[in-house]
Amino acid sequence: MYILGIDTSCDDTSFSILEDDTNVKANVVFNQNELHRIFGGVVPEIASRKHIEYIEPLFLQFMRSHQFSPKSLDLIAVTAGPGLIGSILVGLSFAKGLSLSLGKPLAAVNHIEAHAMSIFLEKKIDFPFLALVVSGGHSLILLVRNYCHFEVIGSTRDDAAGEAFDKIAKFLNLGYPGGVAVERLSKGGKRDFVNFPRPMLEEDNFDFSFSGLKTSFLNFVKRNPPTNETINHIVASFQEAICDVLTEKTLRAAKALSVKRIVVGGGVASNERLREMFFEKSEKEGIEVFFPSPEYCTDNAAMVALLGFYRYKSGIVSPITVKGFSRMSINYKGC
Ligand SMILES: Nc1ncnc2c1ncn2[C@@H]1O[C@H](COP(=O)(O)OP(=O)(O)OP(=O)(O)O)[C@@H](O)[C@H]1O
Ligand SMILES: [Mg+2]
Repeated sequence: MYILGIDTSCDDTSFSILEDDTNVKANVVFNQNELHRIFGGVVPEIASRKHIEYIEPLFLQFMRSHQFSPKSLDLIAVTAGPGLIGSILVGLSFAKGLSLSLGKPLAAVNHIEAHAMSIFLEKKIDFPFLALVVSGGHSLILLVRNYCHFEVIGSTRDDAAGEAFDKIAKFLNLGYPGGVAVERLSKGGKRDFVNFPRPMLEEDNFDFSFSGLKTSFLNFVKRNPPTNETINHIVASFQEAICDVLTEKTLRAAKALSVKRIVVGGGVASNERLREMFFEKSEKEGIEVFFPSPEYCTDNAAMVALLGFYRYKSGIVSPITVKGFSRMSINYKGC
């Protein structure tokens, strides 16, 4: 089967063609970073207007450059939420148009479930496993029992991990996306230069909270304005605190549930310090940790095509009346 994936959940317009669940024939992401950089974050109205302007020419160019005919597609998979509703509706409407005109089935999927499954693009993992999804809008620990069954074990009570990176980067004028800028600046920095709090680590649950850590960072830099000599140490200490909380809580959840495998997905999963820390800590516990390649961590349509394929194989297709949602519960039924 050839599955077309479409993702317009935020500011990226992404298309992918997947052959079954094994072979990514093409995966392209047209990002709008330059437009949003001047605001230090995504401006929803600009994002949706740009999707409207570009989705059709980008799709035609994508199909032409990969010498693919729309007629050869067997399934249209698309993100139906969660995300920026204006952006989602552009991709979803476009997918519905293709599905109707080509007479091919539609699979509307949950973008966060797709992040949790993105590792399967490169490696098949035995069920059950824990998925830590850490992105711009979410920090979630999911227990994944099979291709289409997810259970929320923990989530953030306020800011997502990626959002915390983005906010401190905006405050320091480091550029956008913030996580990438913070990671770059942290290289070689002393990770114990500032002892930032590790929120919720003492609590007996698997939830996260990053808002207090962000405030603690902002208070610190207001009291101790960073210099060229200290800034890399300060951001490295912040990154260390986030990675510490994410790894500790996820490993604790894995042990409590006797799960031996963890996969990490979402944009923050491309952070090298997070990867390193997970591998260091998990080895001692006898738990295996898997990370997708960076291109499948941040938003991409290949993971959407993949989840659409699994849903289709489980007998689930979406009606043409399927709705888009800015917020969407896990275990989305696709109708
Ligand atoms: N190397 C990195 N280190 C830390 N954070 C990173 C890195 N690369 C990207 N990020 C963060 O990942 C986020 C973007 O990830 P992604 O594209 O998965 O999120 P999103 O689509 O904006 O949110 P969601 O998936 O929740 O809707 C941003 O917050 C960005 O700062
Ligand atoms: Mg995402």
